[in-house]
Amino acid sequence: MGLQLLLRALPLLLVLGRAAGDTTAATIETFADFNTECKTCPHSLCPNALYYSGGDIVNATCWTRGTRIIDTTLWLRSTSNCYVTEYDLSDNTTDYTSALPYCGRGSEDEDLTLEDATLRYKTECRICPTISCDTVAYLMEETDVELTCWTPDGQTIIDDPYWMKTTNNCYVAQKNLYSKPDITYLDPCGPIPLLEIEKHFNENGTSEVDKRAAAPEPEGFAPSYLINVTVGEDYALCYSCAEETCDVEMRYVFNQEVWLQCLVDTNGTWWSETTDFCYVKNLDFWESPEGDCELIYC
Ligand SMILES: *[C@@H]1O[C@H](CO)[C@@H](O)[C@H](O)[C@H]1NC(C)=O
Ligand SMILES: *[C@@H]1O[C@H](CO)[C@@H](O)[C@H](O)[C@H]1NC(C)=O
Ligand SMILES: *[C@@H]1O[C@H](CO)[C@@H](O)[C@H](O)[C@H]1NC(C)=O
Ligand SMILES: *[C@@H]1O[C@H](CO)[C@@H](O)[C@H](O)[C@H]1NC(C)=O
Ligand SMILES: *[C@@H]1O[C@H](CO)[C@@H](O)[C@H](O)[C@H]1NC(C)=O
Repeated sequence: MGLQLLLRALPLLLVLGRAAGDTTAATIETFADFNTECKTCPHSLCPNALYYSGGDIVNATCWTRGTRIIDTTLWLRSTSNCYVTEYDLSDNTTDYTSALPYCGRGSEDEDLTLEDATLRYKTECRICPTISCDTVAYLMEETDVELTCWTPDGQTIIDDPYWMKTTNNCYVAQKNLYSKPDITYLDPCGPIPLLEIEKHFNENGTSEVDKRAAAPEPEGFAPSYLINVTVGEDYALCYSCAEETCDVEMRYVFNQEVWLQCLVDTNGTWWSETTDFCYVKNLDFWESPEGDCELIYC
């Protein structure tokens, strides 16, 4: 009898408990305006714990300070114990600093793993790790970069799906580096949503993130990712520039696999720059790289 009474009273107790929680504003329910990363610390370079898609509910439990995003340095800890920037949340009227408790001084720390690396090829550094993601920076071969985390879930380049996030807050394909970094010293980046510069630009004030300014596309630069093709002729000559009057620098043999960086159109004839930094006529390959519209002009 006593137990039955208790069971009957229980739902009421729960309702009261929630009502009491609401009056002390334990959480604020809002939603993500667009895809947004929920990070292990409130800074753009921190790894992701998870992400919210546009429209997903975000229940905020406390506020802290971190990377300035456009006009706010406020970040909110969600009930999943990770941090989202206030800028990406739809509720732009609540004063979170009075409605929620401060997460504490320790929450403002930025703990990053770092490792140096050098690019072997011309490389686009992208806002997320696939070639359909926007380019944040164009980096020349031999550029030194600082890596901060890795993901095994990027777009496969030749045979390698690993991409690395740099302290320029963008991703480069591992295939474009001289050597594979020792990822045991680096954090995994966590799940990465599709991001767009249009919605996640850092105009006016994230200088501690963008250590290297997003360079304008340099003259004569080949924005590129690598593709592999196979020589379909007895041999294929690789020239110092994309014309037959240029010096021959290399000779590839039949069925040799060659990696391409980008395309050149010389008076209606298609050429490609290889990873040996010389040019081969596309007719010498089994494949037609110019038909792959995603390979970019040199
Ligand atoms: C957010 O809080 C509301 C109300 O407490 C709850 O119904 C909802 O399940 C929570 N959502 C998430 C994603 O935590
Ligand atoms: C809040 O967001 C709404 C919808 O995006 C917008 O119309 C409004 O101007 C914003 N208010 C402030 C104070 O930014
Ligand atoms: C950035 O600063 C410029 C110049 O002060 C201003 O015109 C522009 O509106 C600012 N952009 C944002 C998103 O606040
Ligand atoms: C490209 O490389 C992948 C992985 O090594 C291989 O499976 C594929 O056959 C290659 N394609 C060509 C055209 O050589
Ligand atoms: C390309 O065409 C232009 C004009 O017809 C000509 O002057 C030039 O020599 C050609 N270049 C090559 C590499 O054939």
